[in-house]
Amino acid sequence: MKKAQRRLFLQAAASSGLSGLFGSRVAFGHDRLNTPSQTKGPFYPIPEIEKQQHFDFDLTRKNDDSPVAVGEMISIAGRVVSHSERPLGGSIVEVWQACETGRYNHPQDKNDRPMDVNFQYWGRIVTGEDAKFRFKTILPGKYPGRTPHIHFRIVAKDHPELVTQLYFAHNEELNRKDNIYMSLNIGQRDAVTTTLEKAPMDLKKNAGDTILSGNFTIVLGSLADTKSTRPM
Ligand SMILES: [Fe+2]
Repeated sequence: MKKAQRRLFLQAAASSGLSGLFGSRVAFGHDRLNTPSQTKGPFYPIPEIEKQQHFDFDLTRKNDDSPVAVGEMISIAGRVVSHSERPLGGSIVEVWQACETGRYNHPQDKNDRPMDVNFQYWGRIVTGEDAKFRFKTILPGKYPGRTPHIHFRIVAKDHPELVTQLYFAHNEELNRKDNIYMSLNIGQRDAVTTTLEKAPMDLKKNAGDTILSGNFTIVLGSLADTKSTRPM
């Protein structure tokens, strides 16, 4: 390629957003850190339990017409992508968490704090082609030994299953005292820490309202790269 042609080509590439091909690793898919794995913990939902048979995206109530759970309502929105940022449509995204008092809906939870009969302690979404998900829930309560968190499990075709946890930036002090959180390096902590900000409710029934919302981009490793997603 002659020098003038090469200059024109580079200008065209820059204006079309292709400059990353020459200057970064974006185009080769190595720029995104895989979301780190975190322990599943002992309270993974048991669907056979009567109270756990509701598991849609809205954890704040079991049915559209049932009472709302206690606690600060939030939403968590995000996408499931490969480390080259390819949307992984058809991914199963599950969440489970403690209610406002810090209690799980699980027989192994010996915490004597009251359960919230209106809270739907877990949810499951299968993403569309855009690989996006959004859960509506409440801020998880704190329980002994842990900073507040939401458990996630993601199953995507041709990728290793990921089990992880999502934390909240506003709990910085509690997060720093949490051994499971602190077992991650700084970059990994950033990847699993969300900042809540006011956002449109975006749920049909409450159009016009706002909700505190956090983002969580979930980056799955490849099957050949499972070392990077092993529990710390
Ligand atoms: Fe937990």
